[in-house]
Amino acid sequence: MDIADILKQHGQEHLLDFGGLSPEERAAYAAQLENIDWETVELWKDPEDLSGKGRIEPIEGLRIPEIEKNRDFFFGIGKEAIAKGKVAAVLLAGGQGTRLGSDAPKGAYDIGLTKPLYIFEQQIKNLLSVVGVCGAAVPLFIMTSGKNDADTRAFFEAHRYFGYPEKYVRFFVQDMAPSVDFNGKILLEGKGRLALSPNGNGGWYSSLKRADADRDFPAIEWYNVYSVDNVLQRMADPVFVGATIASGKMCGAKVVCKNAPGEKVGVLCLEDGAPSVIEYYELTPEMAEMRDEKGDLRYIYGVILNYLFSAKRLSEIAQARIPVHVVKKKIPYLGENGMLVKPEKENGYKFETLILDMVKLAGSCLPFEVEREKEFAPIKNKTGTDSVESARELLKKNGVQL
Ligand code: UTP
Repeated sequence: MDIADILKQHGQEHLLDFGGLSPEERAAYAAQLENIDWETVELWKDPEDLSGKGRIEPIEGLRIPEIEKNRDFFFGIGKEAIAKGKVAAVLLAGGQGTRLGSDAPKGAYDIGLTKPLYIFEQQIKNLLSVVGVCGAAVPLFIMTSGKNDADTRAFFEAHRYFGYPEKYVRFFVQDMAPSVDFNGKILLEGKGRLALSPNGNGGWYSSLKRADADRDFPAIEWYNVYSVDNVLQRMADPVFVGATIASGKMCGAKVVCKNAPGEKVGVLCLEDGAPSVIEYYELTPEMAEMRDEKGDLRYIYGVILNYLFSAKRLSEIAQARIPVHVVKKKIPYLGENGMLVKPEKENGYKFETLILDMVKLAGSCLPFEVEREKEFAPIKNKTGTDSVESARELLKKNGVQL
């Protein structure tokens, strides 16, 4: 079917204006239109009810004292796996970091005080510390988006990969999804350009595989996936890797104990017997307050976006449909006067898949407790909670010179 008919069929005739575009712009625009995933876009009409949860119960996890008791054992297993090239790191850097208010890749943000210290740089230092201990480099996959891919690559090159062996680094680009207004009309961000945004971090595995980014590393059995915004993130941690392997589970999740019942953090629990991450607002106040005989919260494990997934399990679930979240956002769009409008209020929907939904698909998961003060310094905002300021304080406490 011709593209005009397809657009009409989906009520998107407003996109049919090719006027004033150069031949190259026309071709690029036509390619964008042909790539629209209609099944996803149509979800705005009838978003899947993702709040309807099953039977929620607490999950058993490994607490710090138990980890300490078995540290050497876990370390030995993890170190061997890393040394044999079985563990890869996957940095999720495709997000837009809108809350930080910078258009540059989030990892290029400078958090230094007396000298530059970029988020990417600090994370590479953390990874290099593992390389030092295990005597082997870990393949590092960096997921970017169509919006920041060129800038991210250029940044790493300009800084010589912050000392990480370049031959172990691969970039891959995640998919983009168009945004729609509240009437389901796909928004434009410029003449002949759809308002596209990264389709969420749940697509990392399919995008990595589509790019065949891991073709040079056939030994990989585990992918340690983590977010760009936690500067204390410890990835490919041999103790965590060893504990997950020893547990026989298909996935491990680094978690911190919630600091208060109402802390706004996703919680790892069981849903109808399968591991599941539920958002803080999905826990009823009673559940959030529930305590065990020792006085600990029963729903205690807050996730910090550091997961270890079995490669075998990922390939088994590769065809499974991961839920698409339809999220209200402020989406810049081409106004009637031909200028870009940056709305003050939410004006439409974006379509995102989330990595936390993969935990459920994995089927089994080991919550692995880490010390919050040592491993959790998220940077979401400029000031206040989870900000550049709070992360700097935590870095200083961990002896990092700023
Ligand atoms: P967030 O959920 O914090 O989103 O990402 P974000 O886009 O970075 O920030 P805001 O909400 O716009 O301020 C958690 C992690 O997932 C990655 C991010 O880069 C971050 O490491 N991510 C998110 C992707 O890689 N792709 C996406 O489409 C979304």
